[in-house]
Amino acid sequence: MTSQLFELFKHRYNKNPENTYFAPGRVNLIGEHIDYNGGLVMPCAITAGTWLLMAPNNDGLIRFASANFEEYKEFPLQQSYTKTDREWYNYPLGIFNELQNMDWKAKGLDLFYYGNIPIGSGLSSSASIEVLTAFALNDYHQLGHDQLTLVKLSKKVENEFIGVNSGIMDQFAIAFGEKDKALVLNCDSLKYKVIDCNLGDYVLAIINTNKHRELSESKYNERVEECSQALTALRKEISINYLCELNSEKFALHSHLITDEVILKRATHVVKENDRVNLAAKALNSGDLMAFGRLMYASHQSLKELYEVTGKELDAVVDFCASYPHVIGARMTGAGFGGCAIALLKKGYEEDFAKYLTDDYIAKIGYPAAIYIHDIGNGPTKL
Ligand code: GLA
Repeated sequence: MTSQLFELFKHRYNKNPENTYFAPGRVNLIGEHIDYNGGLVMPCAITAGTWLLMAPNNDGLIRFASANFEEYKEFPLQQSYTKTDREWYNYPLGIFNELQNMDWKAKGLDLFYYGNIPIGSGLSSSASIEVLTAFALNDYHQLGHDQLTLVKLSKKVENEFIGVNSGIMDQFAIAFGEKDKALVLNCDSLKYKVIDCNLGDYVLAIINTNKHRELSESKYNERVEECSQALTALRKEISINYLCELNSEKFALHSHLITDEVILKRATHVVKENDRVNLAAKALNSGDLMAFGRLMYASHQSLKELYEVTGKELDAVVDFCASYPHVIGARMTGAGFGGCAIALLKKGYEEDFAKYLTDDYIAKIGYPAAIYIHDIGNGPTKL
């Protein structure tokens, strides 16, 4: 991989790259749409991700090129940058902007990116390129920021530069991911535990619905807003910062305050999903994969009926999984509205599963899904 990218860099910039970095993508095992509600999430980094090769230039320019996109762009060195269009280079540009806000002056740099995470598939290609750029610049220019600072600034770029009000899960999982481990992250305190993700006789299959998520950003922000309405209603009786400070029992005592039916559904998902993550962590720790799988299905059901972020493509995948004898749990992962689902699939059935799922999915949706098996990998690294 890196030798091919080396050649592409040389071809684009007529010189050798000086440094190469990698940052992973992520899947979230369970705990969906609760990071921005101060909840518990259980993501892990995957071995697919984004590579960055770079070399300095004396032209006073920051140059962005990618093997995935035709669009090439250069920016003069200046104190601040703003998002100009919807192109891919806004993510790394936002990182330059944010690092400069933290008292750094960028120097001329030629950058070349390649990612093998399908874009817009819910595996966090955007957080991967953000964390990668922050990690690489921090290392290359010896800026001295710790990993958590890089996570927070990457999230800030997503929220303020790009304009998606996402939580911290993706950037955190990418920065702190460990091989064969899942993180159990409290998104309020940012305290986390690393637990063994021992899947025994099962593999984690990732199924891409291949559904584009055109409206996902606005729908995502709409869900964030709905949760804040629920919080406002509950605060008439209780003083809380986040919905996930309530477990199901406490929530039942105050839920009458939420009079709008839709808002009540959203808040109910959030509180119950948080409870499910606690149960899922116990199940994984005790090696009870069947219980873990049941919680995955319950999570999907709630995201379908209460949070309404699945859609017919993700539901078709999870329905198929539920009918397939060698899958013990499946759910959407990430923001939803298309993108990917994950499934716990018995080892040895990968081909059989892919064949039957493909037939079933084409019959229902009209085009094929894609199936990947990735390992759980480490966070960002200099290669
Ligand atoms: C996206 C966001 C995350 C999280 C998930 C849903 O991936 O970037 O912060 O909210 O959706 O769990």
